[in-house]
Amino acid sequence: MSKYKISGNKASSDNGKTEERGGRSCVRYKCGLLSTIQDVLQQRTNWVEVKDDGEWDFNWCDVGWLRENFDHTYMEEHVRINHFRNHYELTRKNLMVKNLKRYQKNLEKEVGRAEASKCDFFPCTFALPSEYHLFVEEFNRSPGSIWIMKPVAKSQGKGIFLFRKLKDVIEWKKERAEEQKDSAHVENYVSQRYIENPYLINGRKFDLRVYVLVTSYVPLKAWLYRDGFARFSSTRFSLSSIDDKYMHLTNVSVQKTAPDYDPEKGCKWQMQQLRRYLTAKHGREVIETLFKEMDNIFIRSLQSVQKVIINDKHCFELYGYDILLDQNLKPWLIEVNASPSHTPSSQEDYGMKYRLLEDTLNVVDMEGRLTGEEKRVGGYDLMWNNGPVYREDSGLQTCGSLCFTANTYLGCVNDREKQLRHLFKPFPFQKKL
Ligand SMILES: Nc1ncnc2c1ncn2[C@@H]1O[C@H](COP(=O)(O)OP(=O)(O)O)[C@@H](O)[C@H]1O
Ligand SMILES: [Mg+2]
Repeated sequence: MSKYKISGNKASSDNGKTEERGGRSCVRYKCGLLSTIQDVLQQRTNWVEVKDDGEWDFNWCDVGWLRENFDHTYMEEHVRINHFRNHYELTRKNLMVKNLKRYQKNLEKEVGRAEASKCDFFPCTFALPSEYHLFVEEFNRSPGSIWIMKPVAKSQGKGIFLFRKLKDVIEWKKERAEEQKDSAHVENYVSQRYIENPYLINGRKFDLRVYVLVTSYVPLKAWLYRDGFARFSSTRFSLSSIDDKYMHLTNVSVQKTAPDYDPEKGCKWQMQQLRRYLTAKHGREVIETLFKEMDNIFIRSLQSVQKVIINDKHCFELYGYDILLDQNLKPWLIEVNASPSHTPSSQEDYGMKYRLLEDTLNVVDMEGRLTGEEKRVGGYDLMWNNGPVYREDSGLQTCGSLCFTANTYLGCVNDREKQLRHLFKPFPFQKKL
């Protein structure tokens, strides 16, 4: 349970799904995580928690549970679970890059170089230890540049360091070999070109957290949430001290431990604030192009694993994308998270995450209230449905040739309550907490 509280609306009607649930009028849920998701599930009308080995209709599990249990779990038609079996194809740093490289190569072969160049949004990356020699070759081609070393399966900035000299890596390799000499397990890393020219605001580096929900891989159906945030470093950026994690790693879990971290002020901007700031500074057109380039990242990265992910109608996945902007306003894909943190850093953050998770449940629709034709549910906009989804309000626009605008509203107004009221008429009000 969280120390934060929310008051708001919720919907409760059930249009016919009870039959699918064997006549039960409630949704039996299992939840393997503490934090905001627990609160959201508890507040949902006619949802009841099952403990231990009880039968469930809906499971919000952690990836550890998935690994151990998914293959032995029989799931009825109506059952839903919050991960795809091999989610790590996109969410482990080495596999994400491997899949993107393969996808890009295929595009080049099948469509051409111009199309393949649309995947130039991830920094040059090598998997270690397997690609060590390739990495050294590339490293030697541009002496003096900065690289970042990251463990493939850790998060929150753990185990990450920056380096400029190969001798640092050689030493680090030796130390690791010594540490791991008695262990059968070799920890995998990626070595990635460091973005040396991040876009700065008030001299500080930040990255973006964006939420994308996939409800099916075949056909690909993906939703983009309107809210998200920018996570700022608390220290002014410079390339002269590459050992300072507070300056270079924007993870909230890192910044929270900075000596001058102010919990009142936090280190986040909501996506709307960032979009307004950038628009005021660079003009609408430039920023619309930037956000379109981000849409391109979401879709292409999902397409790169579309044939690899084991599609399963029981599964959905809420991804947390990490995107970094450089000084030329080019967005870079840093990583995709399978279990984006739901731990709130403030009341405002709690509210955002609560609404995000509530809308995730609205899209997953255990209650059977949707028709399947919706382009919008709460704060989610459908951006891909076996092909691009276009905005209803955009009409035809000219941009060289005729084109439409994608149905995405990242950082735009999130009037979800009005939308949900409209969608789920009649919409009973929840009593205030
Ligand atoms: N190639 C890069 N260039 C610049 N900054 C990076 C790069 N990779 C990571 N970072 C910074 O380090 C942080 C943590 O990296 P990330 O790959 O997201 O690992 P983690 O799983 O630990 O969050 C990012 O949020 C970003 O601020
Ligand atoms: Mg990250």
